[in-house]
Amino acid sequence: MATLAEPTLQFTREAHDTPQSAEARTAILANPGFGTAYSDHMVSIDWTEGRGWHDATVGPRRPLLLDPACAVLHYAQEIFEGLKAYRQQDGGIALFRPYANAKRFNDSARRLAMPELPEEVFVESVRQLVAADQNWFPEVEGGSLYLRPFMFASEAFLGVRPARQYKYLVIASPAGNYFKSGAPAVSIWVSRDYTRAAPGGTGAAKCGGNYAASLVPQAEAIARGHDQVAFLDAAEHKWVEELGGMNLYFVFDDGSLVTPALTGTILPGITRDSLLNLARDEGLTVREDRYSLDQWRADSASGRLVECFACGTAAVVTPVGKVADYEGEFTVGSGGPGQLTQKLKNRLVAIQRGEAPDPHGWVLKLD
Ligand SMILES: Cc1ncc(COP(=O)(O)O)c(C=O)c1O
Repeated sequence: MATLAEPTLQFTREAHDTPQSAEARTAILANPGFGTAYSDHMVSIDWTEGRGWHDATVGPRRPLLLDPACAVLHYAQEIFEGLKAYRQQDGGIALFRPYANAKRFNDSARRLAMPELPEEVFVESVRQLVAADQNWFPEVEGGSLYLRPFMFASEAFLGVRPARQYKYLVIASPAGNYFKSGAPAVSIWVSRDYTRAAPGGTGAAKCGGNYAASLVPQAEAIARGHDQVAFLDAAEHKWVEELGGMNLYFVFDDGSLVTPALTGTILPGITRDSLLNLARDEGLTVREDRYSLDQWRADSASGRLVECFACGTAAVVTPVGKVADYEGEFTVGSGGPGQLTQKLKNRLVAIQRGEAPDPHGWVLKLD
C-alpha cells in the first residue's frame, strides 16, 4: 500500500451553500456515463512568478472568470491528468497510483514551460476533493469517481512566452462505463492521413493541444463506423503508436506481449505500466518494441496475433476486435475479448478495488 506524504501547502475549505439536491445526485449516480456530470466541489491553487504556489482552496465548483487575453485561450499552455478514486471492498476509498500521475503532471509541466507542482500537493489536492465529494461515488458496477487535475496559463498577455501566472484546478466527475455501447470489443480505424505526435513534439505530455489535434481523425473513425482512431508514427507512417486516449498491447500465440515502446511520441500510460508489471508477475514475456501496421495485419491473418487490447484509466482494458484502414479491414483473434486480456483486466481491477493484494504498493487508501 502507498502512503500519503505531508503536503507543503495548507488548504482552505469553503462550504457549498447550494450543492446538488440528493434526488438529482441519486439520478446522476444511477447512470453516470462518462464525463457528463460533475461533483459539487473543486480545488483551486494559484501560481504567480516570484511568489510560487498560493491560495489553495477546496470550495464550491463554479465558473471561472477569465480575461479575454488569458494566455491559455491563445497559445494553449495547458496540461491535465486523469485518475480515479475507487470505492474499496471494505467500504473505504482509495486512489490508484496518484504519485505516478503527479510525476507525469510535472513531466508535462516541464515540456509546456509551466511551473511544477510538488507531488505531495498534487496528491493532497486530489485527496481534499475526494473528501469533500464522498457522496459522489456511483454505486453502479464498475463505477468510480474520475478526477481531473489540470493547469493553465491564466496571465492576460498576448506575447508569446511562458506565462507568469497559472491556475491549477481539480474537478471530479462520477464515472460508469467509458464506452456507451458496452460492446465486448472496439473497432479501430488506423489514420493514414493524420498523425498525433512527431519526434521532438509534445506526444509524451498530457497537454490539451494533443487532443485538439486528434479530434478530426477521431471523427473520421466514427464517420467510418469505428469506435476509435489509432495513430502511426509521424516519420515513417509505419509503426503503431497509440489510440487517441489509450495505449495498445498485442498478445501472441506463444503467450508473449508487445506494447509500443515509449519513444517520446506516446503518452506513458499508467495503466500501460501497471499491466506491464502484472504481465511480468504472471511470468509472461512483455517487450516494449516497435510493431508495424503491416505486421498487425499479417499476424492477425496468420493467427500469430491472438489478442489485442487498448488500456487507459478511463476505460481500463478494452479488447480490440476489428482494425481497418484504406487497404481493408481485419479481425484480431476471435474478434471478441481474449482470455489474457480478460485475466489482466480482472487482476488490475481487483487491485484497484481492494479485492486482491497490492504487491506493488499502488493503492493509496484515504481515510
Ligand atoms: C493519448 C493517451 N494515451 C494513453 C493514455 C492512457 O494513460 P493512463 O493509463 O495513464 O490513463 C491516455 C489517457 O490518459 C491518453 O490520453
